[in-house]
Amino acid sequence: MTKVITYGTFDLFHEGHYKLLERAKALGDYLIVGVTTEHFDEARGKFNVIDPIMKRIENVKNTGFADMIIVEDHEGQKIEDIQKYGVDIFTLGSDWVGAFDYLNALCKVVYLERTPNISSTMLRGSSFKITKVGLVGTGRIAERFLAEARYASGLAVISAYNPDMESVKNFKKNCAEYEIEVETEDYARFLKSVDAVYIASTHETHYEYAKIALNAGKHVLCEKPLAFTRTESEELYKLAAYKGVILMEAIKAAYCPGFQQLLNVVQSGKIGEIKDVEACFSRIARIESRERTDARYGGAFLEYGGNALMPIIKILGKDYESVTFDSIDNELGTDDYTKIQIRYKDAMATAKVGMAVKSEGQLIVAGTKGYVIAQSPWWLTEKFDVRYEDENLIEHYEPKFIGDGLRYEISEFMAKIHGIGEKNYKLTAGESIAITGIVEEFTRKRGII
Ligand code: CTP
Repeated sequence: MTKVITYGTFDLFHEGHYKLLERAKALGDYLIVGVTTEHFDEARGKFNVIDPIMKRIENVKNTGFADMIIVEDHEGQKIEDIQKYGVDIFTLGSDWVGAFDYLNALCKVVYLERTPNISSTMLRGSSFKITKVGLVGTGRIAERFLAEARYASGLAVISAYNPDMESVKNFKKNCAEYEIEVETEDYARFLKSVDAVYIASTHETHYEYAKIALNAGKHVLCEKPLAFTRTESEELYKLAAYKGVILMEAIKAAYCPGFQQLLNVVQSGKIGEIKDVEACFSRIARIESRERTDARYGGAFLEYGGNALMPIIKILGKDYESVTFDSIDNELGTDDYTKIQIRYKDAMATAKVGMAVKSEGQLIVAGTKGYVIAQSPWWLTEKFDVRYEDENLIEHYEPKFIGDGLRYEISEFMAKIHGIGEKNYKLTAGESIAITGIVEEFTRKRGII
């Protein structure tokens, strides 16, 4: 009996998949089909898979060609499978020519001609209207957004808005290749040209810009801090729900696969009950940067607080009992370095943020049985360990992380706009509002608002 094996995502099952499976089966007597998990696809840079794995398996099954269906969830599995199932022929479509020649050492490798003019990527593109996205603000983060948006499907960044001519001039120079229209006068006119906005303007303008955009029926991805008060934040989420549009706060680590995996490990009970979370985020900002020169809205907390608070709220919850701040200020009166202590009924947390103080950017989650440590920079979550009293017992995780993180957040925003997937569990409205609550305590205490 000749055993054949093939692998694929088989998303939005199409004729190309059908023909590939038909010919794969014809190569032998018994066909094994490996269907990839979402997690594995994400790790190899495919972020936009639409059909859940059960549906993709069902579609492969319905062709009647597969004698056995397995799940592919990790790098290196192909070698294991070939040996485990005694495979004679490994086959894939011709888009993979050469990529799997190394498997010739174990079995015969056959690349089958790909069916022309059809792919899941094409279907994903045509099943949704392309979302026209506008950038509000033209600073460094807007430039990074443009570069990363190319890796998410379903959107086109077409315009930008900023009344600050100096910033627009730089943006036009740095981003000429993207051919973005820039509006400098009329925000309402700019909004008319788009379906969604990414708000990356100065902190104090986020709430107003978001509110106007939501009122105009536009989806909003808004940089942190979303607002300065809990009431404003609540109002924005209510408005988004009322208008039937998406509102997401852009705390990018929340959307990274590695961070989600860390949360799963923390919640699995492995390290017992969680008693303490420590998160640090520091980046020495350039001396002439806005965060170091804006006497009112500059400073480490407003810039980075959301990043460091996010894992605390995700892990310990929204219902903290008290929060205290301690800062080292600069000559402008803004904070160079701030420590935030949060007390929960049965746990505590510390967030540290610095823009003129550099510290180790790690995340530690301490429990009654052990702890999780995500090494610096934890917000990319490329690696983390679970450690115990017995120092020989270390479990090491190395989730895949591609790009600079924004693509995960952008993909999530698009998936939500297109109605794919369940609720926004990665960072819920309630969690985002709780983070704004802490921002409010800080801004009130310091007389910023
Ligand atoms: N395939 C094919 N002809 C096509 C599309 C896919 O023969 N027109 C083959 C691929 O070469 C692979 C298998 O079908 O062996 C599963 O491919 P998959 O990556 O799931 O499908 P694509 O449509 O290529 O997906 P995407 O656009 O997301 O890369």
